[in-house]
Amino acid sequence: MSAVLEKEKMLHDDLGVNESGHLTIAGVDTVELAKQYGTPLMVMDEARIRRNMRVYRSAMEKSFGAGSYPLYASKAFSCKYIYRIATEEGMGVDLVSSGELCTAVSAGFDVSNAFLHGNNKTDSDIEYAIECGVGHIVVDNMVELDRIDEIARSRGIVQPILLRLTPGIDPHTHAAITTGKVDSKFGIAIETGQADGAVAYTLGKRNVRLDGFHCHIGSQIFDVTPFCDAARLMIKYIVHARDTFGYEADILNLGGGFGVRYIESQPELDYADFIERIASFIRAEVKKSGVKMPRILMEPGRSIVADSCLTLYTVGGTKVIPGFKSYVSIDGGMPDNPRYALYQSDYTVKLASRMRDVDDFVGTVAGRCCESGDLIQENVPLPTPRRGDILAVLVTGAYNYSMASNYNRIPRPAVVAVKENGEVTQVIRRETYDDLVRLDM
Ligand code: LLP
Repeated sequence: MSAVLEKEKMLHDDLGVNESGHLTIAGVDTVELAKQYGTPLMVMDEARIRRNMRVYRSAMEKSFGAGSYPLYASKAFSCKYIYRIATEEGMGVDLVSSGELCTAVSAGFDVSNAFLHGNNKTDSDIEYAIECGVGHIVVDNMVELDRIDEIARSRGIVQPILLRLTPGIDPHTHAAITTGKVDSKFGIAIETGQADGAVAYTLGKRNVRLDGFHCHIGSQIFDVTPFCDAARLMIKYIVHARDTFGYEADILNLGGGFGVRYIESQPELDYADFIERIASFIRAEVKKSGVKMPRILMEPGRSIVADSCLTLYTVGGTKVIPGFKSYVSIDGGMPDNPRYALYQSDYTVKLASRMRDVDDFVGTVAGRCCESGDLIQENVPLPTPRRGDILAVLVTGAYNYSMASNYNRIPRPAVVAVKENGEVTQVIRRETYDDLVRLDM
């Protein structure tokens, strides 16, 4: 393979290079998009989002049976557009705040298909969730359970819930995105015996209905083993709850966490195969234990939206420090993508406007915040960038816009989507300076 063709090799098939040597997404020229909508610009490929959702839906139904389905973990990217797509694709959703709930409601999402998370739900969160008719509340602790029971009683309803348990699994991902260990701010530990106390307490409540258990072990996990380990411990607990309390769980929600390929050296997971491997493990465990097969839910966030998106920036220039590093500056940075600053996350960076030029420069992509750590990626090979070039950071659909800030009073970017018919539509408009001062008194 020639050097040029090798350079054109992309992380996945929906990215390409056109006759002008420009990067394309879903066949659309990214340099033209940057011209039309300005930068920084996030571009989503709608067909890819839908395909990712369909893979989960059909694989879960096939592997676990009817009644098992995916919930899109909307913390990865929450806006009206994505809840509309989730509705059209028959996805449930995982919500983690009243803000996400309000966004889902305003997009017309039927929140009886929603699960509300959160390790500290306020009274007003609980009241709002019950008012909106949220299908399930995933209970984090017993103080919260008391309030849910009281508020449900005052409304004359019985609120379906799951209990969030921590199975005690370390999935060996970045420490900041590990959540299933015993020492965690989330959920109730099995190992310490606290889960037993919680189940007994919950079963004594009249205005909540315990439908089963939830766990989530972490994010960006490429190995099936930690999911099977978590499933084994959760099924063991389901058996224990049946034997101890005569309670049989209907739902086992295994959370999210499947890894996504950000750079060539990471694998591209076959999610259907991953799901089938977990399912065959669960079927065997369930058979051994004699409990009824629970309905399985999963909460993929990253693996639904991450690889559907890229972010376009305009290059400001380069700074070469002889004997040290070289920098390429862009008109965005940690306000639209804080993940390198937070987790030293991997990203693939391309010079979208000159994809066929030779990589004769190695530079660190630096944002424009007054902060040395405002970097997107270090030591990236590129053709020497020139002021006005368009630079693309790939796989930015998850935890980028949803974690964006206005640090240094930088407006958040616009988000556009390429629809299945090739039409481009605005999903979130670019913030203006007026937006920035909107709340100031
Ligand atoms: N369910 C629960 C309860 C979660 O806490 C999460 C993610 C998910 C589902 C979705 O996990 P996913 O499929 O997206 O891995 N900001 C970090 C990621 C934090 C993940 C938080 N919880 C990052 O940018 O990598």
